Amino acid sequence: MFSFLSLSYLIASVTFILGLKMLSHPATARKGNMIAAVGMALAIITTIFLYEEDGKKLHNYIWIFSAIIIGTIIGVLTAKKVKMTAMPELVSFFNGMGGACAALISVIEFYYLYSAHPTADSFSNFVSGGHYLTIIAGTIIGCISFAGSVIAWGKLSGKIKDFAFKGQHIFNGLIFILILAGAVTVYFYYGTQQHILFFITVALALLYGVFFVLPIGGADMPVVISLLNSFTGVAAACGGFLYNNKAMLTGGILVGAAGTLLTILMCKAMNRSLLNVLIGSFGGGTNTIESGNKEHGNVKEISITDAAMVLAYAKKVMIVPGYGLAVAQAQHTCQELQKALQEKGVEVLYAIHPVAGRMPGHMNVLLAEADVDYDYLLEMDDANSQLKTTDVALILGANDVVNPAAKTNPASPIYGMPVLDVELAKTVIVNKRSMKPGYAGIENELFYQPNTSMLFGDAKKVLQQLLAELKNI
Ligand code: TAP
Repeated sequence: MFSFLSLSYLIASVTFILGLKMLSHPATARKGNMIAAVGMALAIITTIFLYEEDGKKLHNYIWIFSAIIIGTIIGVLTAKKVKMTAMPELVSFFNGMGGACAALISVIEFYYLYSAHPTADSFSNFVSGGHYLTIIAGTIIGCISFAGSVIAWGKLSGKIKDFAFKGQHIFNGLIFILILAGAVTVYFYYGTQQHILFFITVALALLYGVFFVLPIGGADMPVVISLLNSFTGVAAACGGFLYNNKAMLTGGILVGAAGTLLTILMCKAMNRSLLNVLIGSFGGGTNTIESGNKEHGNVKEISITDAAMVLAYAKKVMIVPGYGLAVAQAQHTCQELQKALQEKGVEVLYAIHPVAGRMPGHMNVLLAEADVDYDYLLEMDDANSQLKTTDVALILGANDVVNPAAKTNPASPIYGMPVLDVELAKTVIVNKRSMKPGYAGIENELFYQPNTSMLFGDAKKVLQQLLAELKNI
């Protein structure tokens, strides 16, 4: 039978797929996001007004719309207020909320079934194995995603520090076994108190989420965030199965699949296996290195005037943006510098490292904001092959992604992570405010190499001064 509800779910699913496809390119990402959001709004509205079960429609509109209004106000205000550099924390937090919602759907379904059969001896007597598996999987995965994402939010915003203790992996393994045991016992338990065991399993899943993310080191956070994202997708897909809601099922599967692919890509970008990420503490620096280590030699400083000269007389300049450029909000000034150099006949390119900044695609988004032409952006491999013929590598607020220790020092926590080979350029100019380390909390030998000069200062101020100097050359 033709149903408007099914049609709306189909349209919503198409918008999700279209939106996701468009998100893969900075030029179409904004529009893609809007299209998928419209599809989601359509699915929500039609569900509220057209969904029926046993001939009954939804009736608790006051509750539903109050929750929608409160959620919308909080969401819009937070998204509008958030600084670009705090975006990863916000994304992580929103992902956690998605995980919590997905888990709640499964918890409510469990409680509904449990309350509907108060005298039944065992859950297995009135719920099929498949249905129970969907409920318990949605609950456990959603809870892990919620708790893990909240910890990731805390770590990214600096509110929570890395925390690991000896035997942590064994401890985590034990909690996981207890969760599985709890899940099986709830189903086969003979008696009427399954809900107590169920809620203990929920608590253990939350605990697991916390201890799973707490020890993961700084440089590995991008992988963990995308992994948690895929968990939320799977938990939401379980909700879609439970309510036979096709839009939710498609949305969940897409998020789960996209998150999984992103996790694989991130692991590749960091040259790490997922297992290694989960049980190692890669990049889990303590962030205690405050100043330059004199053992490496002395750093050489360059003045604004000299730096402007070197840039103006170069044939090819490779700009390497990093987290500091985002902190300084210097993307527009950077684009002005690029234009000024191009007017002088200098070829200007950008080297984009996949984990530069604090979220996937951070540098692409940042530079797109300043209307930097995509044709000038090079992915890591292309940038590395161009660096050999580059006159000046201008590093703006990047640190870990240009650290040669990843290639040369097997003892370094970032050893094995592919980095930009900036040292191959004839001259390297590094702009940052001090000798402090980057996210992984480790020393960078690049700063002490003979062809490197440091240009200290806030990226925006330094770029403005460079621009002013360039006008006089
Ligand atoms: P980082 O290694 O974090 O280094 C950024 C540098 O910018 C710092 O050393 C800092 O030095 C400098 N800086 C800060 N504010 C500045 C300002 N206003 N002006 C100029 N410089 C400024 O950044 P990166 O090279 O982009 O590497 C990213 C790191 O974050 C990697 O370790 C990556 O694994 C991790 N991470 C990435 C993601 C994703 S998905 N991209 C997510 C979480 C973590 P000063 O303090 O001396 O100025």
